[in-house]
Amino acid sequence: METKARKVGRNDPCPCGSGLKYKKCCLDKGRSDFLRLKEKYLQDYTIPLKEKEDIEAIRMAGRLALDTLRLVEEHIRPGIITDEINTLVHDFTIKHGAIPAPLNYRGFPKSVCVSVNEVICHGIPGDRVLKEGDIVNVDVTPILNGYYADTSKTYFVGKPGADAHKLVKVTRECLKAGMDMIHPGSRIGDIGWAIQEHAESNGCSVVREFVGHGVGLDFHEAPQIPHYGQQGKGIVLVPGMVFTIEPMINLGKKGLHILDDNWTAVTNDNSLSAQFEQTILVTENGLESLTPYDLDEPLPNI
Ligand code: MF3
Ligand code: CO
Ligand code: CO
Repeated sequence: METKARKVGRNDPCPCGSGLKYKKCCLDKGRSDFLRLKEKYLQDYTIPLKEKEDIEAIRMAGRLALDTLRLVEEHIRPGIITDEINTLVHDFTIKHGAIPAPLNYRGFPKSVCVSVNEVICHGIPGDRVLKEGDIVNVDVTPILNGYYADTSKTYFVGKPGADAHKLVKVTRECLKAGMDMIHPGSRIGDIGWAIQEHAESNGCSVVREFVGHGVGLDFHEAPQIPHYGQQGKGIVLVPGMVFTIEPMINLGKKGLHILDDNWTAVTNDNSLSAQFEQTILVTENGLESLTPYDLDEPLPNI
């Protein structure tokens, strides 16, 4: 019984019916189309489209990133100090032959960003003690064999309050809404539009100062991926693009300021802020998350 579509081999007859070997016909055309696009995206936008080998390497970094988040999740509870999360992430990353990208990145002093409650992003681990009802975003980026994967989640510390529960739910849905827009032919503006629409229709606001970004060969590559914007605007998505979506959503207004440490971004109105981030590959059919975690798992009860 023939159940699974078989992959066409390089030396098989081309499925287009030309009578030529696949490698001399459409396989070659697919490859040369890709190489033309790769050249164009680099020239026009400085976007490095990724090859199969690059993608496999980023996927491996992504697996390590998710293992790191899982380890952290096991330790999140009232009483844990944010610097203990840094130690967990740092030691686990090194133990697996990788480097924590945040450490010394533009002077960032720690190996992970830990952002609590009104901190939007780039929280520096220190002596803050997490307490019941807090929310905390943990953002990890290992460099494995020279390749980067960037992912974060917002966790509840103990039992969530109603506000925290609502914000985290809406923010996770925003990442999903952005991902749902991704396929070859859609545009960067479609992603931001979908996120903004979902956040604002739920009475929340979208942070403008920090955006998603190309990632893989470097920490922050072109293009920028704003979490707000207009449908049909911006660069066309093509297979081989790898970038993050990482909406930062506030329960109150969108304004922010940076603390004297030059990193910690905090809401002006002291309202709660949450974030979820995955590293996404645009494929021929749609997308593949290279840092896949479940965006539908039930949230704890209030
Ligand atoms: N991980 C963050 C991002 O999603 C960047 C952190 S930069 C650091 O882009 F220096 F603060 F680590
Ligand atoms: Co990022
Ligand atoms: Co990140």
